[in-house]
Amino acid sequence: MRLFFALWPPRETAEALAGWAAEVQKQTGGKVTATDNVHLTLAFLGESDPDAPVQAARRVAGRRHQLPIETAKYVRRNEMVWVAPAAMPVELADFVQALHAALRAHSFRLEERPFAAHVTLIRRAKMPRSLPPLPAVRWPADEFLLVRSKTSPKGSRYEPVERFPLS
Ligand code: 2AM
Repeated sequence: MRLFFALWPPRETAEALAGWAAEVQKQTGGKVTATDNVHLTLAFLGESDPDAPVQAARRVAGRRHQLPIETAKYVRRNEMVWVAPAAMPVELADFVQALHAALRAHSFRLEERPFAAHVTLIRRAKMPRSLPPLPAVRWPADEFLLVRSKTSPKGSRYEPVERFPLS
């Protein structure tokens, strides 16, 4: 199965971000991420059996923190609209480093590029004239998830495989 690790927002945060994206989409066109699918990817594994990533994740410790979503960006190269923390929370940087190290120790080949925390909200977007202010949202990161991605002609559907607490 196609797997990745992610942080998932509370429902009201996903709704607020998807609502903001629907407004932006009037300018950019493209495809807005469904409310259920709003997430921040921590590590993309690709096709894998879930056993090894579950074992790896159980040994990784991370601290709970808030994920401030303060920046919106149009990424021309990928034709995407993203939102992200303006600065990476130190707890998130430490945790992602530990997670990636644990996964690499299990022979997963992760992206070489440095981790850039982001939440993709629109794909195949044209360049907007300007991006409206983001809604104030709360995103407590108190757990992380191993998620299965299922793609169909209707788009991607994500199913949690296992949840891991941050302490
Ligand atoms: P994206 O939002 O920047 O496309 C599920 O596909 C999640 O894994 C998405 O958040 C996606 O990031 C991320 N991801 C990272 N690398 C990927 C890859 N090579 N193929 C598909 N998704 C990838």
